[in-house]
Amino acid sequence: MAMGFGGGMGGGGMGGQMRGAFGGAGGQGGEGLGFAGIPSELQERVDLLVAHEPPNERVEIEFSHHDYDREPFTFRRFLGPYKVALLGVLVLVLIEVAALQSGPVLTKIVIDDGIKGGSKSVLVVTGVVYFALVVIAWVAGWGRIVSTGRIGERLMYDLRLRLFMHLQRLSLDFYTDEKAGVIMTRMTSDPTSLQQLFNEGLVQLVVQGLTLVVVTVALFVLSPTLALVTVLVIVPAMTLATVWFRNRSALGYLIVRDRIADVLAHLQESLSGVRVVTSHNRAAHNNIEHRNIAGDYREANNFTARVNGYYGPFTDVVSILGQAALIGVGGKMVLDGELTVGELAAFILFLTAFFAPIQQLVQLYNVYQQGQASMTKLRALLLTDPSVPELSDPLPLPLIDGAITLEHVTFSYRPGAPVIHDVDLHIRAGETFALVGATGSGKSTIAKLVARFYDPEEGRVLVDGIDVRNVGIADLRRQLGVVPQEPFLFASTLGQNIAFAKPHASTEEIVAACAAVGIEDLVEQMSDGLDTPVHERGVSLSSGERQLLALARAFLAQPRVLILDEATSNLDLASEAKVERALDVLLEGRTAIIIAHRLTTARKADRIGVMNDGRVVELGSHDELVALGGRYAGMYEAWERHSTGH
Ligand SMILES: Nc1ncnc2c1ncn2[C@@H]1O[C@H](COP(=O)(O)OP(=O)(O)OP(=O)(O)O)[C@@H](O)[C@H]1O
Ligand SMILES: [Mg+2]
Repeated sequence: MAMGFGGGMGGGGMGGQMRGAFGGAGGQGGEGLGFAGIPSELQERVDLLVAHEPPNERVEIEFSHHDYDREPFTFRRFLGPYKVALLGVLVLVLIEVAALQSGPVLTKIVIDDGIKGGSKSVLVVTGVVYFALVVIAWVAGWGRIVSTGRIGERLMYDLRLRLFMHLQRLSLDFYTDEKAGVIMTRMTSDPTSLQQLFNEGLVQLVVQGLTLVVVTVALFVLSPTLALVTVLVIVPAMTLATVWFRNRSALGYLIVRDRIADVLAHLQESLSGVRVVTSHNRAAHNNIEHRNIAGDYREANNFTARVNGYYGPFTDVVSILGQAALIGVGGKMVLDGELTVGELAAFILFLTAFFAPIQQLVQLYNVYQQGQASMTKLRALLLTDPSVPELSDPLPLPLIDGAITLEHVTFSYRPGAPVIHDVDLHIRAGETFALVGATGSGKSTIAKLVARFYDPEEGRVLVDGIDVRNVGIADLRRQLGVVPQEPFLFASTLGQNIAFAKPHASTEEIVAACAAVGIEDLVEQMSDGLDTPVHERGVSLSSGERQLLALARAFLAQPRVLILDEATSNLDLASEAKVERALDVLLEGRTAIIIAHRLTTARKADRIGVMNDGRVVELGSHDELVALGGRYAGMYEAWERHSTGH
């Protein structure tokens, strides 16, 4: 089976660690992803299609954390790469417009020279010419639509990849501050409205704009007086109305973009929080909330519809009044012998052709406003720089020993509210270091700072004596493995989830990692072993099983520094003991930071740091800290009393 269906979503993955597509690379079975396969009865037709229209060539996507386009995203830059193709489209449009707008001129010739002049040959020749022109217009129109369609798809493809890559580059704070649903809107509905703008908008703008110019010139050539009347009646009224419309609808469409993002954000939250929603009986309340949010969206659309309602019919009225005025003035000119009937007929025909593009352009203005609003939103997103930037010439980070130093580190998620206060900490290479402390004391934050998910506000984080801000992000993260407090599983197979940080791992390696954390039985019980699909967010696995999978992931990646953030908190004692034995082997010669509430885990560490309120308040080995008689000793005593039941 052709494996090209993954499309071109190559490089990417969490924090740029992942090379190559997530799917299709695992060493097992080769069926790839959680994709059930193409039904055999369709296979033949699929092969035919693929032969006829090969899937996207698997482009090698360059991904860099520091080298990317920082110029504002504008229409010019959006369309820039397709300048030549667009020029071709312009030529087609010219041909099409010229061919189509020849009708009134031919009509004039037919009336004045053919009918009134009594010449049959003129009738025949104009008829044949008309027919030929219609065919030319048709062919040119076909070429235009096909080529703009293709260019439009290319533009979308480029934009989608660019947006996705940029999202991959952004730092963690972006994702904690922005709702997932809003980000989804930026990835789905906004590019769609840009595509609409391109397909219907820009090209039509050129078509209608050119038509308008051609027709205006024709009007003046036919009769300057009548043309002047037209311009004087129509242009001022239209200009005033258009200025008003422009302001109102620009405002309206920006609101619409925000409201649709609200709708999607609420939907996304309700879906991902469905278990909490159900258990707390919030379904009814959620419905009310959604009704309000969807209502705001409806209101925003109503606003733009009202604005359109004023504007559209107004232009109709102006058009009809203009025609009435012209028939009056023009009719008198024919009676006075200043104009032929053919010229008047051609003029009236051109006049209709004059209004058609104006009204089209007004319609387009909506598309334009929507596209413009999306452009504004996307520009802002693409201008968001990662808050954890990479230097333009990062230092190479060869295989590290794993010494980690925090020097006077102060950090806050929100300005003015530091959660880490002036922490000095040195973790020796190869050491197993435990962090304990109360909930909210800043343990996970220390882990995030070491893995450079965030940069400290003051002070430095050093790995082997090198400031982590000076090295390549991918180089750093490749050597630091974090098993987070809430592991995430991707909609894929068990095996591919385990091989997430090392997509090209062999089946043997994966099996060995499973054995190390003691999930080989679990895997064997599953219907398809390593090929068993797991679902998004891992809902089909228990929390403990998910933690074990996340541990297996880390085991397989074999990072130089391993950070376990409550990675065994949901395990039963037997599983935990097994994981700990496996950790003893894995951590041989590696640095580890183990965050744990359970002191059984912590006490085995070489040294323990006790955190309180963003500070490391005690530091030493288990025995030293117990002897110290401070906070740790108190925690240990309480734990011991609790576990022995006294
Ligand atoms: N993304 C965030 N934005 C703002 N504040 C945050 C964010 N993440 C954590 N905090 C705050 O920072 C403080 C330290 O959080 P941290 O997650 O480091 O605690 P912790 O010691 O790991 O706690 P726990 O034992 O519950 O995991 C807490 O007061 C928390 O409210
Ligand atoms: Mg934590």
